[in-house]
Amino acid sequence: MTLSGKRILLIVAGGIAAYKSLDLIRRLRDRGASVRCVMTDGAKQFVTPLSLASLSGQPLSDDLFSPHDDNGMAHINLSRQTDLVVVAPATADLLAKMAHGLADDLASTTLLAADKPVLVAPSMNQFMWAHPATQANLALLKQRGVLQIGPGAGDLACGEVGDGRLAEVMDIVAAIEKFFAKPGPLTGKKALVTSGPTYEPIDPVRFIGNRSSGKQGHAIAAALADLGAEVTLVSGPVSLPDPEGVRVVKVETAREMDAACQAALPADIAVCAAAVADWRAAEVAPQKLKKQAGADAPALHFVQNPDILAGLGAMGAGRPRLLVGFAAETEKLVEHAQAKLAAKQCDLIVANDVSAGTGTFGGDANRVWLVEKDKVTEWPPLSKRDVAVRLAQALSERLS
Ligand code: C5P
Repeated sequence: MTLSGKRILLIVAGGIAAYKSLDLIRRLRDRGASVRCVMTDGAKQFVTPLSLASLSGQPLSDDLFSPHDDNGMAHINLSRQTDLVVVAPATADLLAKMAHGLADDLASTTLLAADKPVLVAPSMNQFMWAHPATQANLALLKQRGVLQIGPGAGDLACGEVGDGRLAEVMDIVAAIEKFFAKPGPLTGKKALVTSGPTYEPIDPVRFIGNRSSGKQGHAIAAALADLGAEVTLVSGPVSLPDPEGVRVVKVETAREMDAACQAALPADIAVCAAAVADWRAAEVAPQKLKKQAGADAPALHFVQNPDILAGLGAMGAGRPRLLVGFAAETEKLVEHAQAKLAAKQCDLIVANDVSAGTGTFGGDANRVWLVEKDKVTEWPPLSKRDVAVRLAQALSERLS
């Protein structure tokens, strides 16, 4: 999503995570937002005013009593010239000041004088975060409509492990995008997308996988999110970045993928684009299989994996209203897709030609046919992204 023309006032407080605000500025500007920064004295211990000014491309404000900064009226005017105020990192101290209306520096005074929505991204030690004072301050701020993203859990700069990590920069970006997102045709709808291959283990170091890149499934998840859907993407192992604004659940095996899909229900739309392994080794060796001179190669016995798409199709109550499968075929495309549509009880099959020379597997282009009960629609060769955008649009039309 683009943030073109959006004006963001970024308030950087004094925590070690202040360095991540530099990346945040870059990411926001990459999306077309303009970013003006205010920093506290504490923040200057961690990043320099010059870094914030250079990266934002705008003057930095840090002094409540500066006669040069808007004739001393920066604390009033900064939020007037802004669409959203973002506090990242929001320290326990600044949250406390916000909750209690203190205004003893430019950051806190600007927040008290702000006439625009405020999003805070807290960051602190886990005990500071869990302290009843911090929790009460946050509760008060949320009651007043302050938006919050994070914190996450994990390694903290102090060496402890727990809650209090600044939300990932891309998650802060996604929260900002969500704030600005215009309602789309799929707003309020939930979508589930599977993508990528599955890996089926043989022993602790070996697996059986396939060449699916996940490009098409990931693009579909992103396109559905762009139309406003709340998307869960269940992805096998891929080397793609997580699409923005999408909840990503990472799995390896078909059974893990199946369980993650069940956990993501109910959904209005489910698109099964993953290349799920049909079989798995009946037994996974607990230790690495060793080759022995003169001995036969080990024989593998397989059992069938759950068919996730067919399982969703066979659900009674709770079945996704629109169920979409893929059929990668090398011949008799439409015929095979029609058979799959019936066998797996889905509403639509996206059939694609993966015969040698098409470059579909791993490539960026795709040629697809939409196969429905009474209709077959042929699309021209398109990029996988364009297939995703068209498919999301087609699904939103069929849902309404
Ligand atoms: O049966 P086939 O593998 O050709 O069907 C492809 C479709 O079924 C795809 O949509 C794929 O994601 C889905 N599928 C599944 N679970 C399986 C096998 C395939 O969801 N175990």
